[in-house]
Amino acid sequence: MTILDGKKISNDIKDEITEQVKKMKAKGEKVPHLAAVIVGNDGASLTYVGSKVRACERVGFESTMVRMSNTTSEIELLDKIEELNQDDAIDGFIIQLPLPPQINTQKVLMAVDPNKDVDGFHPENFGKMALDMSTFIPATPFGILELLDRYGVETKGKHTVVIGRSHIVGRPMSILMGRKGFPGNSTVTLTHSHTKNITQITSQADIIISALGVPNFLKAEMVKDDAVIIDVGITRVPDESSPKGYVITGDVDFENVSKKASYITPVPGGVGPMTIAMLLKNTLLAREQRM
Ligand code: GUN
Repeated sequence: MTILDGKKISNDIKDEITEQVKKMKAKGEKVPHLAAVIVGNDGASLTYVGSKVRACERVGFESTMVRMSNTTSEIELLDKIEELNQDDAIDGFIIQLPLPPQINTQKVLMAVDPNKDVDGFHPENFGKMALDMSTFIPATPFGILELLDRYGVETKGKHTVVIGRSHIVGRPMSILMGRKGFPGNSTVTLTHSHTKNITQITSQADIIISALGVPNFLKAEMVKDDAVIIDVGITRVPDESSPKGYVITGDVDFENVSKKASYITPVPGGVGPMTIAMLLKNTLLAREQRM
């Protein structure tokens, strides 16, 4: 069994990006600048955005965090997005999700300039992704592809089962694994809350990508020998013995599933750090495309 070490690979990618930024600086070019908009005070969202901003500092990017109150109206957020669209200093920006209920997420994501949409959530970019055109690929699925690529995990002709059809992870992942090329060329099954007899499906999978958000959902008896297991779950489970009062728990019963798997991602230290590294990669791409 091999651990797919997202922490190590994401550090390698950050080192590669740091080198590219140094070269840009040496040539007198502007360095990439990422902005992140966060609406409200959700603890997990604040942690993620904080990590994204720190990652920018580490690779030499400029970054701006835009904090807006929980009572922000849709119009106020759309105005802020227009400001970021027009701001020539900003190469790319993200709107951290989820948004408060008074705001229509779809409307907001459609307002982002597709050329600055480093999350790859705009329908234009999502469509390009589905059509094999060059575009920004959503950071978490992009990070999973990169992990599979760097570890040389074969995906061609394999049966990939994706659990969860979220717009951020499951849906794009199901498209990407079926695309031509590597990693891709998989036969994909997308499962969700209405799927019947999920164990029958997962137990036939060569590759399982779980993006459900239910701690320890995937048990050893749901997995065949030598399967590749990608765990996208990052649920905060209350735990009084931990200093933070919670522990981050994945979708996979790691202790037992890892005994059967050929490759497996840990939580934390698997997919999570890859998401941030790929957001940086998309931001670098956005800067390069604007030159
Ligand atoms: N919320 C959870 N994951 C993501 C992500 O990748 N991007 C944004 N903007 N919000 C998220």
